[in-house]
Amino acid sequence: MSFQEKLEKNIWGLIIMVAIVLSIGGIVEIVPLYYLDNTIETLTEEEDSIRPYTALEQEGRDIYVREGCYLCHSQMIRPFRDEKERYGHYSLAAESKYDHPFQWGSKRTGPDLARVGKKYSNEWHREHLRAPRSVVPESVMPNYAFLENHIIDDSLTERKLRALAMVGVPYTDADFAGAADAVHGKTEMDAIIAYLQVLGTMVNFEEGKDYRE
Ligand code: HEC
Repeated sequence: MSFQEKLEKNIWGLIIMVAIVLSIGGIVEIVPLYYLDNTIETLTEEEDSIRPYTALEQEGRDIYVREGCYLCHSQMIRPFRDEKERYGHYSLAAESKYDHPFQWGSKRTGPDLARVGKKYSNEWHREHLRAPRSVVPESVMPNYAFLENHIIDDSLTERKLRALAMVGVPYTDADFAGAADAVHGKTEMDAIIAYLQVLGTMVNFEEGKDYRE
């Protein structure tokens, strides 16, 4: 019996070998990220307008996570020609440095949303989220009309920003103080649109530059 045959007939042997092989693959992929300088790209001052989300955008992001939008939408444009032509410049790690948790995802039932900001008007998003098929007849996206009827609980906003500050997002005391007012009376629809409209808009890309170098 060959080694492979023996292994395939021994469940514990197979489990252990699979675990070893996966760990090697994992280590090879993950460890270099800790010492390579270009893991997070450095941007010049003109390029870099990456900032923490405003209170309203952050509330919108929480709704995005709550509603599981990531189950159908990725936010990660890979550095391939077809993706760049469809969605725009490939995603930089620097662009999600304030994202906790990041929303890269891997499932694309719908299009990637990493650069959807400013692609449509707020009115388009409102109509699309309310009833996707009213603007894209062949869409399989669910209706999110109820977001319009839910007012955001502004008593929690400051605490959310403070929690993010604890993991390194540079919010200031002024952000905390203004958090509740910034979202007061806004609907969940307002918040998620504010979030969608800022996605992928924070870097002024220099034409032709390779940020992976
Ligand atoms: C069941 C899968 C599914 C879920 C869940 C889903 N979508 Fe979609 N979404 C789609 C599909 C399919 C399309 C493409 C057709 C269309 O535009 O409606 C789409 C399109 C979009 C677009 C337009 C993108 C573009 O570039 O044209 C936006 C914005 C969007 N979705 C936002 C959301 C948000 C926000 C949520 C969560 C509240 C969400 N989607 C949940 C499937 C989904």
